[in-house]
Amino acid sequence: MIDFDIARAWHKIFALHIEFVIDGIEKTSLDPRVVRDDAACNLGKWIFGSGARYARRPEYADLVESHIRFHYAASAILEEHLAGRAGNQSSSFRAASDAVLASIDALASTMIKAPRPAGRETAAGRKNDEDQPAWQESMRIGMKLIDEQHEELLSWIGKLNDAPTAAITSKSFVDSISAVKKLETLHFETEEIFMQRLGLPHEQVQEHVNAHGELLKELVQVELDAGNGIRKTAAEVHRGIKDHVLSHIARHDMPLSRHIANPH
Ligand SMILES: [Fe+2]
Ligand SMILES: [Fe+2]
Repeated sequence: MIDFDIARAWHKIFALHIEFVIDGIEKTSLDPRVVRDDAACNLGKWIFGSGARYARRPEYADLVESHIRFHYAASAILEEHLAGRAGNQSSSFRAASDAVLASIDALASTMIKAPRPAGRETAAGRKNDEDQPAWQESMRIGMKLIDEQHEELLSWIGKLNDAPTAAITSKSFVDSISAVKKLETLHFETEEIFMQRLGLPHEQVQEHVNAHGELLKELVQVELDAGNGIRKTAAEVHRGIKDHVLSHIARHDMPLSRHIANPH
């Protein structure tokens, strides 16, 4: 269900954000006391907002608890980082983060009678095999965070085609497009910071940043089209976005691996 997919994505984005700060990739200063607040992040807002409709289920209480534990772990790792001590808390942070995902899965599993099918058959049409997730190992550039984000992003782009014949105005499509846009935005920020750190020539970085702008513009256009009631199907839009992102990875991102192998 899209609801839980979004909850998972919120959580992964937040956890990555903390990891970026710890790894020095992101220079934002985070206050551990603010990070400790489990109601302030997007997942927390979901839990106590629209997710509260599941509040009668025991799995909901488990999620609330594992999410609180995660925020304590995030706050602890951040305090450690700010104090200049590194490493001790990272395994408990990761375990706490995985526990939140497991809690979301457990809650989601109470909502579906049968396990999720491996194929993507849906009421609104059936997926083609050639439309299966586009991520391939050969796309790795050798920087873990970026590779993980590419894989996550392509899996979300795949979800745009969960109901190929649905209109782009359908709620599930609109929700997926908005999730893809958030992930792209976070991912492009990561990549752009990373390129600056590699000390690449200004023109090369600028060209790459412009290409990111084009990808985001495409998503904004889809949202505008949906808002204007333009009649397009999920399948049409999905193919365009997928092809565009894949060609971007091949043309702009994969060449970055050369600089990782031979840093300046
Ligand atoms: Fe890129
Ligand atoms: Fe990328």
